[in-house]
Parts: sequence; structure tokens; C-alpha cells
Amino acid sequence: MNVSELQKKIIELKKQNDVCILAHSYQAREICEIADYTGDSYKLSVDATKVGNKNILMCGVRFMAETCKILSPEKKVVLAQPIAGCAMADQMDKALISEVKKKFPGYTVVAYVNTTAELKTICDVCVTSSSAVQIVNNIENRDILFIPDCNLGSYVSRQCPDKNIRLLSGCCPIHACVTKKEAEAAKAAHPGAELLVHPECTPEVCSLADYIGSTSGIMNYAVNSDKKEFIIGTEISIAEHLQYMCPDKKFHLLSLKLICPNMKATTLMDVYNCLNGCGGEEIVLDDDTIRDAKRCIDEMIRLGQ
Ligand code: 13P
Ligand code: SF4
Repeated sequence: MNVSELQKKIIELKKQNDVCILAHSYQAREICEIADYTGDSYKLSVDATKVGNKNILMCGVRFMAETCKILSPEKKVVLAQPIAGCAMADQMDKALISEVKKKFPGYTVVAYVNTTAELKTICDVCVTSSSAVQIVNNIENRDILFIPDCNLGSYVSRQCPDKNIRLLSGCCPIHACVTKKEAEAAKAAHPGAELLVHPECTPEVCSLADYIGSTSGIMNYAVNSDKKEFIIGTEISIAEHLQYMCPDKKFHLLSLKLICPNMKATTLMDVYNCLNGCGGEEIVLDDDTIRDAKRCIDEMIRLGQ
């Protein structure tokens, strides 16, 4: 079967089996094409609450499938590729943060959505890269413990100068490994291009950017801009999607290192296999985890509106 034959089969099977497919924008184009909803982590978590189907198939990484399960516990949620974790979410667990919390009593614990369901159970509110600044500004408490991403946390600190924000040393190894030197070289090679970066990049790289924003933020900015040339400082699929959406514009990659192996672990064949009842992993969370983690995600949706 070629790609379009496989896509046709997938579209038939998802209808027959009452499955809604969610795909993060870092997924390959052929997967986004067969998805019912695509977008950044915030949009997917809101979309997940509106899904009418009995089954959700998540093409993304594990914490995204867990978020869907927490928001729709009555549905069967399957992660299309079980090895798709998130290198940042795996850096901090509940035991570590329980200890850290003891050192910062009275602080509101703000967890990037890129955390495990178990860790979310002891946090106060979740944020995504597109909602973090607004949510932190809407929190009454001035004292914030922001976990796990120190780069996103540092970006939020710069945007919310009235808050006292403590950071830990987590990061996304994919975005954080882009260097200032690479950003300078890309700008020198494409002097007419604007540099658009994800806030998971380091402050040094962000300081050179014309725009800093989430996956959807970057895409909306490039689509709506009058400018014709951009350097994309986030996962490489975003540049690919944008090139299809705006054939009259030019998109350059900030760095060839910006490939997330977890996001790229899912293939169209995995999706096909899941719809045939083999492969994938059903997300199973106990009732207490769902109840406690949901408080933190509900707060995100409430404060993000
Ligand atoms: P978004 O919140 O922009 O979707 O990013 C998720 C992510 O994993 C970025 O690396
Ligand atoms: Fe996690 Fe980084 Fe991959 Fe995003 S790009 S899913 S933060 S490892």
C-alpha cells in the first residue's frame, strides 16, 4: 500500500470504529492529514474535551495521551506509539517535586503540561507554552515555583516581572541544544528572514528572535505576516507544514538538531495497526490520579480563558 491508500484505509477504519484521531503539529504531514484535530498541546487538550467519539487515538507523546484520559476518563484513549515519551516530562517525578515543595512553602506550583499525570497530582495549575504567561499573570500569589522547563520558566519570568518565579533545571533537550552561534549564523545566512522561536529555546537564542511563541503561535504568526521569509526555531515539522500552507513564502530550519525522536516515533503504519486493534497502548490511570491531576488541568483551562 502506498501512503494515500493507507490514508484512505485509515479514514474508513476510524469511522467504522468510532475513533477520533488527535495529532500534535510536530507529527509528520501524512499523519496530520488523517487527523480530526491538529494543533499545539493547549489546543489538543481543549479539543479533547469536545470529542463525541468513544475512542481517542493520540498521535503525539505520552503526556498528551494522559491529558486526554484525564479530561475524558470515560473514553478509551490509546497512544499510537508506546515508546513516544517526552524527554522533558521524564526529568522530574512526584518524589522529587514533593521534596522541592517542602523548601518552598506558600509557593504556587505551576507545572508545564509536559509532565507526567502522576506529577500533576501534586501541582496547583498546569500551563502550556501558549498559555503560560496569561495563566501566571492570572494567579493571585506572587510566589511561583515553575516546573520543569527552566527555559520556558525564564521566558515567563521576563514577561511577568511582578512575580517571584523560582525555576528548576529541567529543559527540552531538543530545543535547548540550539546555540546562540547557530541562531546568529542562520540570521547571517538569511538576512531578510524573521527568526521565530519556541520558548523552550534558551534565553540567549530567544534574545535574537523576532517572535517567541508556542507551536500554534509560530504558525499563526508566519501565516498572517506580510514578511516572506522565516527561520523556524522549533521542531522541523512546523517548517514543513508552513511550507505547504504558504507556498509563496520561504521557511528555513534554525537547526537540523530540532528533530524530536519521540514525536517522530509514530508512523502512519502505527495508526493503521492501532485502528486494526493491534499496537498502541491504552492509557490506564487510577481514579485518584485522574481526580487530582484534573484539578490542575481544569485550573489551566479556567485561568487560560
Ligand atoms: P506546544 O505547547 O507548543 O504544543 O509544545 C509542546 C512541546 O512538546 C514543545 O516541545
Ligand atoms: Fe518533549 Fe522536547 Fe519532544 Fe516537546 S520537543 S515532546 S518537550 S522532548
